[in-house]
Amino acid sequence: MTMVKHAAIVGSGPSGFYAAEALLSALPDIVIDMFERLPTPYGLVRSGVAPDHRKLKQVTHVFDKIMRSERFNFLGNVSVGTDVSLEALQQSYDIVILAYGASTDRKMGISGEGLANSHSAAEFVGWYNGHPDFRDRTFDLSQEVAVVVGHGNVAADVARILLQPPDDLRSTDIAAHALEALAESNIREVHLVGRRGPAQAKFTTGELRGLGLIPQCQALTDSNAVTLGPACELELADRSNINALRNVEVFRGLCNARDSQIARKLIFHFCLSPEMLEGEAGRVKQFVFRRNMLRGNPFEQAAVPTEELFGIDCGLVFGSIGYRGQPLERIPFDFRRGVVPNRKGRVERDGIALDGLYVTGWLKRGPTGIIGTNRADSIETVQQMLEDLPGRIPRPQGGRRQLVDSILRRSAPVIGLPEWLKIDAAERAMGRPVNKPREKFTRITDMIDIVSQDHVRNTSDDYGARLG
Ligand SMILES: Cc1cc2nc3c(=O)[nH]c(=O)nc-3n(C[C@H](O)[C@H](O)[C@H](O)COP(=O)(O)OP(=O)(O)OC[C@H]3O[C@@H](n4cnc5c(N)ncnc54)[C@H](O)[C@@H]3O)c2cc1C
Ligand SMILES: NC(=O)c1ccc[n+]([C@@H]2O[C@H](COP(=O)([O-])OP(=O)(O)OC[C@H]3O[C@@H](n4cnc5c(N)ncnc54)[C@H](OP(=O)(O)O)[C@@H]3O)[C@@H](O)[C@H]2O)c1
Repeated sequence: MTMVKHAAIVGSGPSGFYAAEALLSALPDIVIDMFERLPTPYGLVRSGVAPDHRKLKQVTHVFDKIMRSERFNFLGNVSVGTDVSLEALQQSYDIVILAYGASTDRKMGISGEGLANSHSAAEFVGWYNGHPDFRDRTFDLSQEVAVVVGHGNVAADVARILLQPPDDLRSTDIAAHALEALAESNIREVHLVGRRGPAQAKFTTGELRGLGLIPQCQALTDSNAVTLGPACELELADRSNINALRNVEVFRGLCNARDSQIARKLIFHFCLSPEMLEGEAGRVKQFVFRRNMLRGNPFEQAAVPTEELFGIDCGLVFGSIGYRGQPLERIPFDFRRGVVPNRKGRVERDGIALDGLYVTGWLKRGPTGIIGTNRADSIETVQQMLEDLPGRIPRPQGGRRQLVDSILRRSAPVIGLPEWLKIDAAERAMGRPVNKPREKFTRITDMIDIVSQDHVRNTSDDYGARLG
């Protein structure tokens, strides 16, 4: 009944896998090729989720099951837009689903942002998680005071990794180079700065509470900061806003609880917007903020700047104000929001749906939501695709075999499931002696070396009789 035989998914993060799961269960004949620019699958579950969130990483078991389906092929180490064009995918597959995420950091856009020791959270997160793009970054952990801008869960991860006793990270999958550097860290004080108030902070309460429980570290805030105006009180009274209410209770519990015996401190600041970074000898020296007032109706309160400036002396800075998607080739792109314009997952140009092209995950809705959010999102996208089926004109057959053949013939090896399993096994084996779940390869060349040992190169036959 279906005219969709072959689907290409671009990106192997949660949204790509959940789209694959929905497609496999809806269409019994479909064969899926998932293209991933890295040799390793799982997107931000491998390279974003903090190493001490071990349980969460177990979601990869769900993805592994999908990878083992006979109707699914993983093509790792193949970057769409560089190694193969999106246009070629569109010509060779009945449908293409874009699931390549939002990997670029948003910049604060202030003077001094380019100084040494000023970084984005995305760089630091990629570095401690062993993402090959960030392997060679360095962070000056000889400094004592760091400022993290943003009151979201990524900022919480960055602050926790900076302040946590390194011994607590030893049995995680944190990259070895990061563990080594953090073990020598001098950071004693982290300032976590939000532009709005405690009722608008985006931390989930579990993550916020976790920040108050870091061993040998005291979390603090000022009691004036948690005195709320009427619009905030109305926000907190709304039953749907229970996370904010709980967050405010946590912040109130941290007021003025100073204990000079505790060496490390985490200090929450509210209603401060980044104004400029001042440097000395080319390096960050002071972060200057502008104090804000909250103005507007409940749930629409904006940070309105005042005349007052506030400085924090610091030696290290991380902007953690969100991520951004990037366009690929000539696809329509909403540069303001950093997403591919779409209606429930159908990619649109000037309001008109493009034939056979869909989008899901962070690239579809913007860089918000936890892993599970992507499941419902991908189901919605696949649902649109299924609704479009009756009107589809089938692609000429044979194009996919030719395309996959040409990709397999190029010089850089394609990482399929057997090769990934080899990388995975090697990482686990390296982790065992040091009691880590895995010791990640952090260089693509090391991953390729491992799979190249005793390896006969894939041919299109390895991608099964299903090609064609
Ligand atoms: C630092 C951080 C920590 C997080 N921690 C948690 C957490 O603890 N719990 C939780 O539930 N959620 C967490 N999240 C949110 C969660 O990671 C996201 O909701 C989810 O990963 C988004 O999935 P995605 O598939 O849209 O994108 P991604 O996970 O980013 O996957 C996109 C994939 O596409 C690949 N790709 C990019 N460009 C190309 C290309 N040109 N060709 C081929 N492949 C390409 C990328 O390499 C990547 O593998 C965290 C997010 C961040 C940033
Ligand atoms: N453990 C977990 O479950 C976990 C861990 C990490 C990430 N995640 C998820 O991943 C998603 C991304 O997280 P995130 O922390 O990057 O984003 P986020 O939750 O959207 O938080 C971004 C923060 O940056 C602030 N901000 C934005 N622009 C700013 C500017 N120009 N100046 C100053 N501050 C600015 C925002 O303030 P405003 O509110 O004022 O805009 C907000 O406090 C979230 O949905 C998060 O829940 C989940």
